[in-house]
Amino acid sequence: MLRRLHKDQPDSFAFTPANLAWAEAQITKYPEGRQASAIIPLLWRAQEQVGWLTRPAIEHVSDMLGMAYIRGLEVASFYFMFQLQPVGSVAHIQICGTTSCMICGAEDLMEVCKEKIAGKPHELSADGKFSWEEVECLGSCSNAPMAQIGKDYYEDLTTARMGEILDELAAGKVPTPGPQNGRYSSEPLGGLTSLTEYDSGKTQYNASVQLATDIGDTVKRIDGTEVPLLAPWQGKAANAATKPSTANKTTTKLVKPEVPLAAKVEAASGAGKKPKVRTAARKSGADDLKLIKGVGPKLEGLLNSMGFYHFDQVSSWGADEVSWVDQNLEGFKGRVSRDNWVPQAAALAAGEETEFSQRAKKTVPIKNNKKRKNNI
Ligand code: FES
Repeated sequence: MLRRLHKDQPDSFAFTPANLAWAEAQITKYPEGRQASAIIPLLWRAQEQVGWLTRPAIEHVSDMLGMAYIRGLEVASFYFMFQLQPVGSVAHIQICGTTSCMICGAEDLMEVCKEKIAGKPHELSADGKFSWEEVECLGSCSNAPMAQIGKDYYEDLTTARMGEILDELAAGKVPTPGPQNGRYSSEPLGGLTSLTEYDSGKTQYNASVQLATDIGDTVKRIDGTEVPLLAPWQGKAANAATKPSTANKTTTKLVKPEVPLAAKVEAASGAGKKPKVRTAARKSGADDLKLIKGVGPKLEGLLNSMGFYHFDQVSSWGADEVSWVDQNLEGFKGRVSRDNWVPQAAALAAGEETEFSQRAKKTVPIKNNKKRKNNI
């Protein structure tokens, strides 16, 4: 299925104060330079806030994490849990269409959705309250066919019960999740045949359903009012309802999205001036770019793949070229200026040594050490 941004997008996105405090706290989980790891929880929170993942939300989260918009879009469009189009204001019904559920009647459940919600998946119902889609196995195969509605599973469904559930939701009720055919959990329909001494009736419902019922937030979206919203790694709560947003201002970059995605991507790869590149190293062979402080084997490979093989190529870069390379070293952005490559490369191109290159040449590679040790 093609997953694209919806054609109708809101103008902007901003986290609510509570969600912003939570999002900032999430970012502090990760070490400096690894803030992008927070992309999924932040996108999820943005989706919970709006109901679906809008382009401004993806751009906003990308800005918070210092990521190019295209990187945020890649994550959002890869994972099916992110809804890239509006969903029903009351509920988005996810019908499992994988083997067990398909055999047990998933297609019939989807017919109910087509009849009661909309003819096609991801279409809103006429009143905007519902939408539906087919999803892959949700891991509840022994209770097939099933559907996820909001946060909970509705299992052992029939077409009649599916219709009733939709009617109840439309009436503002939240049907009890779990098996809908009288089963407690996933025991045989005819009752337990073994382990009968384990009394499964200690709670009214099985553990999952009991918790869902106790919490009562099946179709309620997370909005930051949940208590407690903890950031235990910080030793404190991250709930804006109980404290002002103070989480890690140094690692959180909040930048208002000011340019659309396409323009931003172009700017990210087009700022500065692209240096002259080579299609291959000279016949004499490529220089050992690892003699430049800050360049390791991976970065050297990246430079070669970009058309840079020689010290004199690097030493010829002016400010514009440095800016371009800095922005296009995927995964190593900013290294050229951070480690001052140009003067190092100039010395090496002139046949001189730098303090780093001297040290690097003295260092015996680990694999050679191993060989010596093993007398190979
Ligand atoms: S096949 Fe439907 S939950 Fe696994």
